[in-house]
Parts: sequence; C-alpha cells; structure tokens
Amino acid sequence: MRPAIAAIALLLAGVSPAPAQAPYTPGPLNISMPADWAQRFLNYSSIDNVERRIIRRFYVNPEALFAATPGAPLPNGTMIVMADHRARTGPDGALLRDIRGRLIPEPAPFLLSVQEKREGWGEGYPADIRNGNWEYARFNPDLTRQAGMDTAASMRACFTCHLGARAQQDFAFDFWDYTQSRPR
Ligand code: HEC
Repeated sequence: MRPAIAAIALLLAGVSPAPAQAPYTPGPLNISMPADWAQRFLNYSSIDNVERRIIRRFYVNPEALFAATPGAPLPNGTMIVMADHRARTGPDGALLRDIRGRLIPEPAPFLLSVQEKREGWGEGYPADIRNGNWEYARFNPDLTRQAGMDTAASMRACFTCHLGARAQQDFAFDFWDYTQSRPR
C-alpha cells in the first residue's frame, strides 16, 4: 500500500498513529514549575545577602532530599529551587532584622532560579558547557518563564558558573553540602 493510502486506511479504521514522543533537546523548556512546589518542597537552607538586600531561600523536592546520599551524585529527579525575596526595610530605608538578627523577607519571592536533573538530560551540550544531567531555568513568582530565558543560549551563564565552581559537587551548592551532613 502507498503511505498516503495506508494513512487514510488507518484514519478510516479509526486508528490514529501513536503521537511521537518528543525527543530531548537541550534547553530550559525541559523544566516547568510544579504548581504545588511552594507547599511540597523542603526549605533546606536560607542565606541573608545584606549587600544585595535579599534573602535567598533554597528548596528541594522531598523525593530527592530522601534519596540523596553523601558522597554520591545527586539523584535523577532532583529539582532545586532558589527563591529570592527582597528584604523588608524601615521608614529610613535601613534593613529590618528579626530577633536572631536575620533579615526579614517580603512574603513573596521576586525570582525563582531552578536546576533540575533527569536521566538522559545534558546530551547535546558541548563538553565545556555540559553540567552532567542538569538543566537550568528561571521563573517569575507566578511560575511563568522569565522573559528571554527560553533558549539554551540564554542559560549559558548558569552552566558556565556552576561548572567552574561546583563540578566536583554535582554542580549544586547548598543542596550538595546539606546532603553530605544532613542531620538524621
Ligand atoms: C556567577 C556564578 C553563577 C551564575 C552565573 C549562576 N549561579 Fe546559580 N549559584 C551560584 C552560587 C554561588 C550559588 C550558591 C548560593 C549563593 O551563594 O547565593 C548558586 C546556587 C544556585 C542554586 C541552588 C543550588 C543549591 O545546591 O542549593 C540554583 C537552583 C541555581 N544557582 C540556579 C542558577 C540558574 C538558573 C542560573 C542562571 C540563570 C544560575 N544559577 C547562574 C553561582 C552562580
């Protein structure tokens, strides 16, 4: 049967060919924010950055936190979210502090930076860029993708810096350190 006739025959029989699984292509579009991340993810670390007048809160999906093992690469399926909050200030513009001297964050973050690792990801990046199986992405607080952050090229700085600084720590920062010494 000619292909066109075969396709018509399939249609007439009510059978449509299975949709092709989109092949992996490098880039930030592989990552999307789970709608329930703020309720579900665990806040394993927070940093006050006085110079930038922000509080950085670091979150990970609980499955990854429980599966991560000291000394081993982080598990596939790890999704790390770094939420930047502006610090609250007084009427004179000075930074406010809580009873332990920590900065006081605005309730909602203004920026979400994400790194996620999955089996098969990372293929296709040149060796001087590739971060193992990690991809990076940036989102607004309403979970839409940040403008301009939709191509592999737009994430280049993330790859370059994490590769240079933390290749021996599976390209992660506080989550790697936390995994090595997590109180149990
Ligand atoms: C110039 C270096 C640099 C660049 C560029 C950079 N990062 Fe990072 N990243 C860091 C450092 C350093 C930390 C640790 C937190 C801190 O010191 O504020 C970090 C932490 C993170 C974390 C939390 C990791 C953990 O283990 O807790 C995520 C997620 C992240 N970065 C995503 C991104 C994304 C997405 C981009 C690009 C849009 C990016 N980073 C660009 C240096 C960088």
